[in-house]
Amino acid sequence: MTSTWTPSTWRDLPIKHQPAWPDAGELDQALKMLGQMPPLVFAGEARNLTDQLARVARGEAFLLQAGDCAESFDSSADSIRDKLRVILQMAVVLTYSGGLPVVKVGRIAGQFAKPRSSPVETKGDVELPSFLGQIVNDIGFTESERRPDAQRLLTAYHRAASTLNLLRAFTRGGYADLSQISTWNREFVASSPAGERYEKMADEIDRALTFMDACGVNSSTVPALHEVDFFTSHEALLLNYEEALTREDSLTGDWYDCSAHMLWIGERTRQLDGAHVDFLRGVKNPLGCKVGPTATVDEVLALCDALNPEKTAGRLTLITRQGADNVRDNLPPLLAAVRDSGHPVVWACDPMHGNTYTAEGGHKTRHFDRILDEIAGFFAAHRQEGTWAGGIHVELTGDSVTECVGGGDDLQETALDQAYETMCDPRLNGRQSVDLAFMVAELLQTD
Ligand code: PEP
Ligand code: CO
Repeated sequence: MTSTWTPSTWRDLPIKHQPAWPDAGELDQALKMLGQMPPLVFAGEARNLTDQLARVARGEAFLLQAGDCAESFDSSADSIRDKLRVILQMAVVLTYSGGLPVVKVGRIAGQFAKPRSSPVETKGDVELPSFLGQIVNDIGFTESERRPDAQRLLTAYHRAASTLNLLRAFTRGGYADLSQISTWNREFVASSPAGERYEKMADEIDRALTFMDACGVNSSTVPALHEVDFFTSHEALLLNYEEALTREDSLTGDWYDCSAHMLWIGERTRQLDGAHVDFLRGVKNPLGCKVGPTATVDEVLALCDALNPEKTAGRLTLITRQGADNVRDNLPPLLAAVRDSGHPVVWACDPMHGNTYTAEGGHKTRHFDRILDEIAGFFAAHRQEGTWAGGIHVELTGDSVTECVGGGDDLQETALDQAYETMCDPRLNGRQSVDLAFMVAELLQTD
């Protein structure tokens, strides 16, 4: 990092995917207020996540990063709990069947901003600004709903704070206690194929816990059985917002973006000379960067040098999203080059964004088999290069939506209409997510 970095040096650089805020005064006012708000996360927590990700980089743990494509301001407490529960269920499956600790990171408590392929959306002869996530505007197709509203930056902060508060309560207050893993299933998927498989595994874990209890080991003697570490993350897209929540850590003097534990750079904003890379290289949080099918070896190496010049393990996660058709050809050269450069990255597979298509009825969707196929190709590429397939990055919800096709229930395209609720990309529902976890655990076992 050059010595001239400050939280606002990005302002002098080319930047993409920022809203056209109609009122500069309103924006300044909102940013000023945000700058006075308490941080959402503490720098020590971000350092803890870096340490846990360093274990992933060394091949000693697996990363599960998951949540909505675009979070809603209207998520109910039940919906937040159910999303957490599905992620915890997937983590239990991966830990138990894969035999490894799982680092759990939600796309949650701040995943409100979306880059869009076009800045405008046209319906008939009406053209309006695209929906850019509820941190900017609303999804309804009227002029007032689509007007970027800087007040929403503050609402996003408050929604993130209340979501995070609930997550902290659930993960520290007993909901995540390992002895609860069969109750998580009760109101969920017990009757589906994934649910039955999960129930069997939960019974085995319960028996193991009873045995350990008889030996004097239980959640009162081992706090790790009672609590889980659960971290937050989102795409750091709106740099105004991120800058306003960036604080100097009083313990170390380092800068942290305190809007989430981990921040990632999206596929559309990873330009080496651009604002997003500049902003994120200066904060000490663990970072992610999406790596799509057009990324070259030189670009990826330059991103590693820019974002992690000190080669700190756990600092950088490269989230590949090549598409099922490309992953087996595109990934090995990237893995080999990064391996040979000595950069200790976490490699995670986003099997969602390279496999989206529009179904006949007009819904954007993804097929479960293609998602799984990209993950299988990801594991194969790592096996080939002797590198560690470190994790997965998926879009999911605990709600019973019909957005992705296939899976244990073999959801058909004709059924997409039943509960298509996403504000952006199609998400796996709870059953499909647990299904996927079992299949990824099998890949982990054979690795
Ligand atoms: C996303 O993760 O929702 C996203 C927009 O992904 P990408 O930057 O990989 O396109
Ligand atoms: Co998405």
